[in-house]
Amino acid sequence: MKTIIEPFKIKSVEPIKFTTKEQRELILQEAGYNPFLIHAEDVLIDLLTDSGTSAMSSKQWAGMMEGDESYAGAKSFFRFEKTTRELTGFKFIIPTHQGRAAEKILFSILGGAGKYFPNNTHFDTTRANIEYSGAEAFDFLTELGKDTSAIADFKGDMDLVALEKFIKEKGPENIPLVMITVTNNAGGGQPVSMGNIRKTKEIASRYGIPFFLDACRFAENAFFIKKREKGYADKSVREIVKEMFSYADGCTMSAKKDALVNMGGFLAMNDSDLAMKARNILIVTEGFPTYGGLAGRDLEAIAQGLDEILDEHYLQYRIRSVEYLGEKLTDAGVPILQPPGGHAIYIDAKRFLPDIPPHEFPGQAIVCELYKVGGIRGVEIGSVMFGKTDKKSGKFIPPPLELVRLAIPRRVYTQSHIDYVVECVIEVFANRKKLKGYAFTYEAPMLRHFTARFKPITK
Ligand code: F0G
Repeated sequence: MKTIIEPFKIKSVEPIKFTTKEQRELILQEAGYNPFLIHAEDVLIDLLTDSGTSAMSSKQWAGMMEGDESYAGAKSFFRFEKTTRELTGFKFIIPTHQGRAAEKILFSILGGAGKYFPNNTHFDTTRANIEYSGAEAFDFLTELGKDTSAIADFKGDMDLVALEKFIKEKGPENIPLVMITVTNNAGGGQPVSMGNIRKTKEIASRYGIPFFLDACRFAENAFFIKKREKGYADKSVREIVKEMFSYADGCTMSAKKDALVNMGGFLAMNDSDLAMKARNILIVTEGFPTYGGLAGRDLEAIAQGLDEILDEHYLQYRIRSVEYLGEKLTDAGVPILQPPGGHAIYIDAKRFLPDIPPHEFPGQAIVCELYKVGGIRGVEIGSVMFGKTDKKSGKFIPPPLELVRLAIPRRVYTQSHIDYVVECVIEVFANRKKLKGYAFTYEAPMLRHFTARFKPITK
């Protein structure tokens, strides 16, 4: 087969700034060894997130000029609503400024003390919004999904037996919603099969519980279904997407991922009573129901992006470019979470740096070295982000995995950028014995990874 090429020509470019290793050492030191505190200008290849970092198409930019900025009933809203409704089949479409705003509205209506929300794996903002309401969030990933080295098709699947047991234990009246996240970001960008989505819906229905999708990366998930699930090879991605949504009673969506825009999101559902309550909150916190937290031009760009994301040449290139990075790293012996997911490669920091214990943050050591060596910015998803200290014993409790995520922005980098990333990761891996751990010099009480400062441990 011939090389899968980027399915676009480049019309507008943004130069990137080159720095020397010496400059980067200083920049890193000034940022307290926390890549979140580095100015983006000083980053050569930014793999911090795939969220809001997409390159928009010429048609999306043209749509920006078409944006109708009327307060109420803007033309752009109706285009956005029509596209979203056709794609998802949901009756009520409520625009929000990003995914977490949709979550905040949903869980402030359905959440509260004594309520429980199961998911394959909640993303951090979803969990935080549930907990903020006073409710509790639970993850039900299959055992296979938790195994970082197993190669399997649908490691994002929900554990159906555990889910049903949980519903019986807690009582369906205390579970306002069952959710599935496609693809499973927190679990490595792994896809969920159609069979699993359908069976989750069946279980939820049996107990009279609504079923929602966290749909951020719905198109990437659908492409995996086409490639991997029996019976879907001859279906179009659009048909697969429609089938996925047909099982759900609603969704939350961050348009910053699979709608190829820099800002936006929505909440959608079929229940008119829920929609009315959501719109009432929307008016207080986001804006009038025909713009939510967005400008008319943003709604145009989302509508266009939702169409472009279903282009199968695009999706083939997208999934292949992530897989390509994963393959090159695996060939060089770099331990990564297998198989490569839809939007990112996750380096397994425990196996990469077995001599640095979790409380000395092996993932942070890799992230810092990768910036030093190549000006590449990734993110630690391990003990810095999720580690806890037991209040009574003062003992450090690490999360199960120590990962470094290299998320690939959509339509932004070319194959040679990715080849460069491969070279830098391999260089860091070759010199891994020289790496040292890190210790906090400043730590905020909540979401500490965003603002923490560190020092290298010298011993
Ligand atoms: N759900 C999932 C699965 C996500 O990955 C994100 C964001 C959200 C919800 C929240 O959406 O950012 O628009 O408010 N993920 C980004 C990331 C931040 O880097 O993975 P948002």
